[in-house]
Amino acid sequence: MRGKLVVGNWKMNGGLVANAALLGEISTGFTRTDGRELAVCVPYPYLMQAQAALSSTGVAWGAQDVSEHAAGAFTGEVSAGMLVEFGCRYAIVGHSERRQYFCDSDAVVAAKAATALATGIIPIVCVGETLGERDAGATEAVVLRQLGAVLETVGEDASRMVVAYEPVWAIGTGRTATPTEAQAVHATLRARLAKSGAAEVPLLYGGSVKADNARALFEMADIDGGLIGGASLKSTEFLAIARA
Ligand code: 13P
Repeated sequence: MRGKLVVGNWKMNGGLVANAALLGEISTGFTRTDGRELAVCVPYPYLMQAQAALSSTGVAWGAQDVSEHAAGAFTGEVSAGMLVEFGCRYAIVGHSERRQYFCDSDAVVAAKAATALATGIIPIVCVGETLGERDAGATEAVVLRQLGAVLETVGEDASRMVVAYEPVWAIGTGRTATPTEAQAVHATLRARLAKSGAAEVPLLYGGSVKADNARALFEMADIDGGLIGGASLKSTEFLAIARA
């Protein structure tokens, strides 16, 4: 049976003092059990702080992006090898904010996922349609194109990744996909993953997940957990989502 995973994406939020309180509260409030995992993806400068605060706890940590390059003249980039040195288990790749504001193409996202996997980092590959694409009936085509680019690049390693469906129109808007809407897309993604021998990959939902809507989403057959933005910055809310 597939395990459950909840991941916090802090985005560009935080500060040393606030992080210390948040990391402390999360780690004392969560007990890892078989098949239930909790993680936070923090800004790069806070990886060392996350490592120090979480190392002997049941909470894992990771980054919000990773370079597709291993090393060299790539100013501003951070390699997967560097993330390994800070104990990262995960790196988000292809978040819609990266695709939208930083021009991360399908090919770049696929290369980042491949580099992460080759280095021992689990990529959390994000896919999702915009409101315009949904209204045009293109949701399936968009998410299958985004996922397909990664699957074709990573080959057999696909079974070691995590996939997150994040409809762009639900991110930070307070408007969540209904459990039925999300499940429909997850079933499509699951079928595509199965074709690549990766049917057991954890499939997370992200987009305005809160304590009060998490359970209904996580109960759906193909939703294995969540990728949480705003609500991951408040320990009580984040822990309530983890319990859901
Ligand atoms: P919100 O939970 O703030 O909508 O953000 C979702 C997200 O983008 C997580 O990666």
